[in-house]
Amino acid sequence: MTPMHTPTDLDVIGIGFGPSNIALAIALEELSGEHGALRSLFIDRQADYRWHGNTLVAQSELQISFLKDLVSLRNPTSPYSFVNYLHQHGRLVDFINLGTFYPCRMEFNDYLRWVAGHFTEQASYGEHVLRVEPQLAGGNVEGLKVISRDANGREVARSTRSVVVSVGGTPRIPAPFAHLKGDARVFHHAQYLERMATQPCVNGAPMRIAIIGGGQSAAEAFIDLNDSYPGVKVDMILRGSSLKPADDSPFVNEVFSPEFTDLVFRQPIADRERIINEYHNTNYSVVDLDLIERIYGIFYRQKVSGLQRHAFRCLRKVEKSEASDAGIAITLRNSASGEVETHVYDAVVLATGYERQMHRELLAPVAEYLDEFEVGRDYRVQADERFKAAVYMQGFCQASHGLSDTLLSVLPVRAEEIAESLYQYAGKRRNALPRAVRPLQALGGLLESVG
Ligand SMILES: Cc1cc2nc3c(=O)[nH]c(=O)nc-3n(C[C@H](O)[C@H](O)[C@H](O)COP(=O)(O)OP(=O)(O)OC[C@H]3O[C@@H](n4cnc5c(N)ncnc54)[C@H](O)[C@@H]3O)c2cc1C
Ligand SMILES: NC(=O)c1ccc[n+]([C@@H]2O[C@H](COP(=O)([O-])OP(=O)(O)OC[C@H]3O[C@@H](n4cnc5c(N)ncnc54)[C@H](OP(=O)(O)O)[C@@H]3O)[C@@H](O)[C@H]2O)c1
Repeated sequence: MTPMHTPTDLDVIGIGFGPSNIALAIALEELSGEHGALRSLFIDRQADYRWHGNTLVAQSELQISFLKDLVSLRNPTSPYSFVNYLHQHGRLVDFINLGTFYPCRMEFNDYLRWVAGHFTEQASYGEHVLRVEPQLAGGNVEGLKVISRDANGREVARSTRSVVVSVGGTPRIPAPFAHLKGDARVFHHAQYLERMATQPCVNGAPMRIAIIGGGQSAAEAFIDLNDSYPGVKVDMILRGSSLKPADDSPFVNEVFSPEFTDLVFRQPIADRERIINEYHNTNYSVVDLDLIERIYGIFYRQKVSGLQRHAFRCLRKVEKSEASDAGIAITLRNSASGEVETHVYDAVVLATGYERQMHRELLAPVAEYLDEFEVGRDYRVQADERFKAAVYMQGFCQASHGLSDTLLSVLPVRAEEIAESLYQYAGKRRNALPRAVRPLQALGGLLESVG
């Protein structure tokens, strides 16, 4: 298919318009007062933006202080703060009365939508970015072409000098479930609400549901199934020996400070890895303590009543899964005893976390110019001398910038660092564009025809 080329001449295209790129849009707007506006566009595949929308169960709370919103850490007087959102919506006093730093995720989702709503002119929704191609001139990559598919299935191409890839994680599907991709009874937690809405338990039918995994998503799915569907029996199936608490104690929490990013980045690779592993239990395969206590309470009350509804199957490795009309049969091996058992479920929730690989797919056509996706301190992907364009990444730099990278923790500071780097790059580009390229720019910036 030949992409339809839109006659744009953009300085930057943000791929994905979740928290990372919304924060960047704010930072660019702030800097535009001083330096003049960069021509920017943010593309998101969701037609109607929601923040991990299929996971917004009633009980789910933000796992970080609301003060770590899109902007306050850098500019507490910004109109885009969570406090101003509350004020504008007439809930500031009520929120204060709640006495919490942790709003429910539904409210934070509404806050993000409210901020994004201020940037509608720079946003295009319902467009799935497929790839980023090089625009070549004299053997150099002088610009980039971002190819997306719109809601009507048409391919669209846009020219830009730089891209910021902020597309988030991709659901991790364990190998024993990979062959059940098309089976509506087996789904990742990222699709939880949408898929649960089609299950028979919505109409009160009894169901047996397995949750695979022992992280925050698994715990939240368990509570939701327990609270919302009295006819549902849940088996929590995890490789570990127990649900473990997320370490959010104050000294440890300093690993999520902006200064810690510098510390991690300055280390040799092996030391960065050691630091990240040391603090793995602040974020991965862990659950908020209050949720663990609630789940323990539910299992304890089962013991008191003698009515066993749910089961807790720890130290279990999934060996295989098979689908039939009777359900999904899962074979588990007990890693302590070696025993093998098979259980049949009506549905399976894979709360098995996320992978961070999408940047490789999107940037594959320019990968030969990039230095193995290594990034500089300013999150710009290192490239060889032929690459005159710029690629930045947010959410794919944990290995170099630390555990904050996939979270909300340092968004405002990171956004400013990238925005400043973009301005610096745009300035250099304006001064340094090769002669051959300039006349084309005057014709609408299409450095190369599409096809
Ligand atoms: C259920 C859940 C709850 C979380 N809660 C917290 C929390 O409380 N605190 C915290 O600090 N972190 C939390 N996180 C971590 C989370 O990664 C960050 O909060 C935040 O969402 C990261 O923002 P982002 O913009 O980088 O990525 P995302 O929020 O994932 O946004 C990526 C955006 O890119 C779009 N997109 C993806 N692919 C394409 C494409 N090819 N073309 C166009 N658009 C595309 C998506 O539609 C999406 O809107 C949570 C994660 C999950 C999964
Ligand atoms: N309320 C909220 O704010 C909220 C809600 C949900 C999620 N989150 C955030 O989202 C991020 C991801 O959390 P998450 O719970 O989705 O993922 P996670 O923390 O990465 O946990 C994934 C779980 O799946 C298990 N797992 C992975 N691969 C497996 C396999 N092949 N077979 C069996 N089990 C497997 C892991 O087991 P092992 O431990 O054995 O590896 C782990 O228990 C975190 O940052 C979390 O804080 C936040």
